[in-house]
Amino acid sequence: MSEQKLFKVTIDNITIEVEPGTTILQAARKIGGEVAPPAMCYYTHLKDSGGKCRTCLVEVAQSSAADPRPMPKLVASCRTAVMDGMVVKNITSQRVLDARAGVVEFLLINHPLDCPICDQAGECHLQDLSYVHGKAGTRYEFERRTFEKEDIGPYIQLHMTRCILCYRCTYVADQLTDYRVHGVLDRGDHAEISTYISKAIDNDFSGNMIDVCPVGALTDKTFRFKNRVWFTKPVDAHRDCDTCCGKVTLWFRGDDVLRVTARKDEWGEVQTFDGKPGWICNECRFHKKKKSDWIIEGPTRISRHSVISQGHYVGLKIPKETLPDVMDGRPPKLLMDIHDVSDVNKVDLSALPGPATSDTFQ
Ligand code: SF4
Ligand code: FES
Repeated sequence: MSEQKLFKVTIDNITIEVEPGTTILQAARKIGGEVAPPAMCYYTHLKDSGGKCRTCLVEVAQSSAADPRPMPKLVASCRTAVMDGMVVKNITSQRVLDARAGVVEFLLINHPLDCPICDQAGECHLQDLSYVHGKAGTRYEFERRTFEKEDIGPYIQLHMTRCILCYRCTYVADQLTDYRVHGVLDRGDHAEISTYISKAIDNDFSGNMIDVCPVGALTDKTFRFKNRVWFTKPVDAHRDCDTCCGKVTLWFRGDDVLRVTARKDEWGEVQTFDGKPGWICNECRFHKKKKSDWIIEGPTRISRHSVISQGHYVGLKIPKETLPDVMDGRPPKLLMDIHDVSDVNKVDLSALPGPATSDTFQ
């Protein structure tokens, strides 16, 4: 059998080879870092997701080697397949950056800025997107949308005002659970997530909707208002579970497990184990809240840029110190080394049972 020809694609001046059928977004994720466009509605493990939010827009400066014309409009990278010889601009395109600022402004038209009381704060994709691409003000003069409060069951809290209608939760309900009792009702500014006749979402895997929600529209009722995510300590753990993979992240405060979530990868999506997405069941997520229920594997690796890593020095990827290299191995004399002069750095924060307090540094 002849080997499949790979397609060459150049994104932000970096060229890679990918299999035909790969989307621009997935190709950019292979390169990684800033080159990967943000994605608020696409989710690798959810079929048909993507194409709703427009945060992943990119400029195609050359359609392919055979047809070097640029594409006239920006395209959604999560839904556009690469062609051989395609040239794409993401952060190197001012058009893209302007469009993304517009998309953020649009998403924030109705989304309340209630981060100080929202359980998703600190791990909210819209919050991150707004920091990077948002503007200080809004041009919108009208009232934000409001909704009748709706109880969608014992485990999940719906805040419809925060929903950005990405449809990810409905795909979870459709593709992971046996039957779906919720969806997007109505259209336009009336569109809302609802269980229609207020049926509870009580399927074994319904809790995964919380993990896929990019904002704080669906949050865990068992964790609600218990803590801020950056005060908790994420730890990888597993248990033998008949229903799911049993591989989770436990979020500790001291010895208390405050929250259980699926393990996420660097794109905020559930990790894969043995080629399968690591969705977790409601039993593991909502009912196994004792440390003794779990076999602890070790601290979760989190990006050092995440607000969650503030105060957690475990598993951080510390950048390599390059100065001694360029100075023939000599440490820099004129630069103060904060590690030598600060008491803070003499304390092993990762050995503390809970968050550091002023007593820790006495
Ligand atoms: S509730 Fe969350 S996951 Fe569901 S459509 Fe709204 S933003 Fe997306
Ligand atoms: S991630 Fe591509 S349109 Fe939403």
